[in-house]
Amino acid sequence: MNEKQEYTRVQIFDTTLRDGEQSPGAAIEPERKIVIARQLAKLGVDVIEPGFPVSSPGEFAAVQQISRELQGVEIAGFARAVKGDIDAAVRATQDAGKRRLHLFISSSDIHLNYQLRKSREEVVRQAREMVAYGKQFVDEIEFSAMDATRSGREFVIELVEAVIAEGATIINLPDTLGYALPGEITELFQTVRKEARGGNTVRYSAHCHNDLGLAVANSLAAIGAGATQIEVTVNGIGERAGNCSLEELVMAIETRKEALRAETGINIGEIYETSRLVSRSMHFPIAFNKPIVGRNAFQHESGIHQDGLLKNRSTYEIMDPEAMGIPRSMIVLGKHSGRHAIRHRLAEFGIEVTDEQMQDIYDRFKAKADEQKIVTDDQLIRIAGETTRTQ
Ligand code: KIV
Ligand code: ZN
Repeated sequence: MNEKQEYTRVQIFDTTLRDGEQSPGAAIEPERKIVIARQLAKLGVDVIEPGFPVSSPGEFAAVQQISRELQGVEIAGFARAVKGDIDAAVRATQDAGKRRLHLFISSSDIHLNYQLRKSREEVVRQAREMVAYGKQFVDEIEFSAMDATRSGREFVIELVEAVIAEGATIINLPDTLGYALPGEITELFQTVRKEARGGNTVRYSAHCHNDLGLAVANSLAAIGAGATQIEVTVNGIGERAGNCSLEELVMAIETRKEALRAETGINIGEIYETSRLVSRSMHFPIAFNKPIVGRNAFQHESGIHQDGLLKNRSTYEIMDPEAMGIPRSMIVLGKHSGRHAIRHRLAEFGIEVTDEQMQDIYDRFKAKADEQKIVTDDQLIRIAGETTRTQ
């Protein structure tokens, strides 16, 4: 059997420009969205959700421009399950090479009672009617049962059955509040796939928020339970603590491919560039310790780790940063660094020293590191210069 066939091809649905933009503090002018969308296409995402067309003329124009220009990527037109939203999403994505309509309505009693003020019957009726309405214009319909993980299981199944009967082709079960645990996600996806009538005729998607820091773990659980699409944002930006981070999910799959039996179509060499672009364009800084793209993600300060890395990178690195476009794995020289790392760094600048000089450099280096924790390359070169001049 061809080994490749055993891997689930996970579709990456990027919602940086819609859900990601809902990050408190993140902002992007609608006319700048195209720049990010072009980079997302280069990165190789399968679907781009460029905005919420009904929300403003600028949003509408941005979704329209992206649909027209990026003919090779599928575009999702986002809409509440109401006619006005659907009309706007259908018009904005009209010229896309490939498109889908993404409709949502809440399924939890908390949302129904306090936000929508509708009964379960009314919600099922509205979802049915709006999926049928959208289906007149677009074949591919993604339906999201908002707050699915805090909803009654039998109601989620009833709602999913109803929208499948009207022609929904992708079922998204969002963890809107980032509340679920991985085992619960597994159980939710397995049950809906098995028990909803028509449940085996559609594709499944997960959309996990990160309130408990579980968005990536929950998305991986969904893949294990049959989801073939994961909704993500670059740098994990999004409402509150954000969404499942694209780079973390993709690199988890890439790094643990054999264990997960899954793969994506992402061009990982574009990850760092994409992350930087989104951070700059949306005025949203990246935490130093953020996995994959944070400043410290591939920096090593412990002397023991530095020594191991210089002998063999796999001693303390599980990924190759350069493969993701990260300039190079950095050893930070500081008070924990040993002679080996210092000599190695000097050699990178073409400075060879004798053992006697090395001892003097080492002593001066440690004194400096005690003062200021980290010693920069410039300072090290100056120390080496002073030593070699006096000896
Ligand atoms: O978090 C959420 O539930 C969403 C849906 C509307 C997809 O963003
Ligand atoms: Zn969301």
